[in-house]
Amino acid sequence: MYNSKIVGLGYYVPDNVVTNDDLSEMMDTNDAWIQERTGIKERRWVEDKTGDTTSTMGVKAAEIAIERAGIDKNDIDFIVFATLSPDYYFPGPGVAVQKALGIKTVGALDIRNQCSGFVYGISIADQYIKTGMYKNVLVIGSEVHSRGLDKTTRGRGVSVIFGDGAGAAVLSREEDPTKGILSTHLHSEGEHAEELSLIAPGMGKRWVSDILRDNDPDDVSYMPHMNGQFVFKNAVVRFSEVIMEGLMKNNLQVSDIDMLIPHQANLRISQFIQNKFKLNDDQVFNNIQSYGNTTAASIPIALTEAWEQNKIKEGDLVVLAAFGSGFTWGSVVIKW
Ligand code: COA
Repeated sequence: MYNSKIVGLGYYVPDNVVTNDDLSEMMDTNDAWIQERTGIKERRWVEDKTGDTTSTMGVKAAEIAIERAGIDKNDIDFIVFATLSPDYYFPGPGVAVQKALGIKTVGALDIRNQCSGFVYGISIADQYIKTGMYKNVLVIGSEVHSRGLDKTTRGRGVSVIFGDGAGAAVLSREEDPTKGILSTHLHSEGEHAEELSLIAPGMGKRWVSDILRDNDPDDVSYMPHMNGQFVFKNAVVRFSEVIMEGLMKNNLQVSDIDMLIPHQANLRISQFIQNKFKLNDDQVFNNIQSYGNTTAASIPIALTEAWEQNKIKEGDLVVLAAFGSGFTWGSVVIKW
């Protein structure tokens, strides 16, 4: 058995900055409400003229990660792509990455898992590398939320939170069992699937022929739905549990954490966890203020920024933790 190690990181966000004041011109909201409830000051939303999509942004993030990993793109053995906002209903964006990078015929796996998508993706990559099946795995999290949000007052409880962007990591084989990814922990609770969901594009309830015939502009099932307070309450509990699970599995204490990268769901959730675990500001990284919640992209964007800012050094104990729609949640414990 081998370990896996993150050897390259990259991210890409669209240039287009959308401030809270910009949103207040589209809907009945204001900067004070958004900042007080979520910590978000601005986010990036794609523009048609740039051609940015979930897959193209994922490719840009991946190219940076591959270059930093110091490997040739043809050394990538497998691609894992996490998103809830794919370019096409099918096929998923993994094959678009394979094509754009010009990597021969390696496997490309598309996964969902929403805000936990990157953590699930890392866990999958880690398992393949552990068993020796693959040596280098590319994991991407990317989202275009802005094209699917209800940007009227009706949708303000959701639309002010989400942003677009992509992050990527290259995981490679690590021979030293004390280094790299020490453990991953995945959970779900499907009982609450509808509490944070986008129902309509699925095949579960309606016939496409009926949808096209009805063409109903009031059909909110095409917009994301979130029971905000219920999500918040579950998030703080599950984040705490899954961080502790990861630490206990490795006989570590909260005080051993050098850097916690929580999924950027809401600054208040991150602060709740920070206070609960009595972590100082240097031990937790947040960038939701600038990007909003980018779902599967949030952890790789934050991890990359933390690394670029020299906030993660060799030998550090880094913990990734996520919670989101499904509900799904998970953690990754890394000896950097
Ligand atoms: N701007 C202004 N007012 C808004 C608003 C907005 N964008 N969105 C909702 N409101 C209003 C509501 O209509 C409500 O008005 P009312 O009291 O007149 O009915 C009031 O603000 C309070 O709404 P509520 O939904 O109870 O607010 P909240 O304090 O629960 O905050 C969230 C809403 C979404 C910020 C909060 O629930 C949250 O952060 N939840 C977790 C979300 C999350 O992390 N999601 C991602 C998980 S991966």
